[in-house]
Amino acid sequence: MPTLFTNIKELVQVREESIDFLSGAAMKELPTIKNAYLWVEDGLIKDYGPMASCPDLSIEHIDLTGKMILPSWCDSHSHIVYAGNRESEFVDRINGLTYAEIAERGGGILNSAKTLRATSEDALYEQSAIRLERVIQQGTGAIEIKSGYGLTIEGELKMLSVIKRLKEHYSIPIRATFLGAHAIPMDYKGRKSAYLSMMTEELLPRIVEEDLADYIDVFCEQGYFSVEDAERIMRAGQQYGLRSKIHVNQFYAIGGVQAGVAHNALSVDHLEVLRDEDIESLKGSNTMPVALPACSYFLSIPYTPARRLLDAGLPIALASDYNPGSSPCGNMNFVVSAACIKMKMTPEEAINAATINGAYAMDLSAEMGSITKGKRANFMVTKAIPSYSYLPYSFGEQLISEVYVNGVLF
Ligand code: NIG
Ligand code: FE
Repeated sequence: MPTLFTNIKELVQVREESIDFLSGAAMKELPTIKNAYLWVEDGLIKDYGPMASCPDLSIEHIDLTGKMILPSWCDSHSHIVYAGNRESEFVDRINGLTYAEIAERGGGILNSAKTLRATSEDALYEQSAIRLERVIQQGTGAIEIKSGYGLTIEGELKMLSVIKRLKEHYSIPIRATFLGAHAIPMDYKGRKSAYLSMMTEELLPRIVEEDLADYIDVFCEQGYFSVEDAERIMRAGQQYGLRSKIHVNQFYAIGGVQAGVAHNALSVDHLEVLRDEDIESLKGSNTMPVALPACSYFLSIPYTPARRLLDAGLPIALASDYNPGSSPCGNMNFVVSAACIKMKMTPEEAINAATINGAYAMDLSAEMGSITKGKRANFMVTKAIPSYSYLPYSFGEQLISEVYVNGVLF
């Protein structure tokens, strides 16, 4: 059944031609149609335009006077499948411990891995589904989800099976990423190479055989996995046809960006610490730089220098990094606000980064990320707002009125 939305105050991110992503100065442009209509049919965007050319007002239609429509947020980096929470570490940090000190005491990722081990697959699914539904309600219409709190064969398979069940149950596009190399578990302390062998030689073939992952990831960071380790992971992924999306430059710049580009990573994520040579290496590549400002906010670490990336003519995507340790927030509206307030991105740049560029970082630009004929009808309807800049400006306010997934009210 077709659905017609009329009197839309502003239809935002309208692209006649489907594009892969936007870079540099082009990110400043956010095409819109004021006083618009949107026609949805069979779960897809069928047509749109100014109200003056609205085709058939005699059929039933949804009047959106005062409200705007934006394509759904495309969150290309999350860890929403996890067990329990880590608010006691949050309090430890308030009392002066650093993220690194907490990790050294067996907290951090290993703490979540311990909780996950004690959680059944069904319970893990239930906890994760609640988070997923919440972020969909907050406007996310496509999401990538990583494993990485299992750190054993059974644990990683448990996480990836939960992601598979989420894919089956929810109709937004979900991409699964295998992040076995997230931390070295206690029983492999001092035996990192053996751990990586288990992950790449024993586990990865099973994951691929059971079609449990779309991408492969590694936490390339001092104290976690080196650039050589990251290359080993990416090579293993390539061998099995999995492209990489990797964690780099969160605390230290150790060459992960260059390694990612050299291995044709789909994205390099975090980038809070970025050297000029890292920026240089991204030029001319197909690798999307992804910033995670909610993580910077929560850990009080630097924000990804978006202006330097954009001034160098590069693209940037924004994602939530929703996880229990460094970003217990999957609200992309906050992410977009934080990018404007803390990274000096304009609302146009931030909205482009959280829609079309986020879609690219999940290989979804052909079906998500803009209001384009033939793309999925995944979009959000705002409350009555004065302008789209009001969305990041009025940070923390709940400004979404309805969310549609494949043209159906969620
Ligand atoms: O992206 N940096 C590594 N992984 C996550 C944090 C994991 C955790 O603390 O649980 C991140 O920030
Ligand atoms: Fe992450």
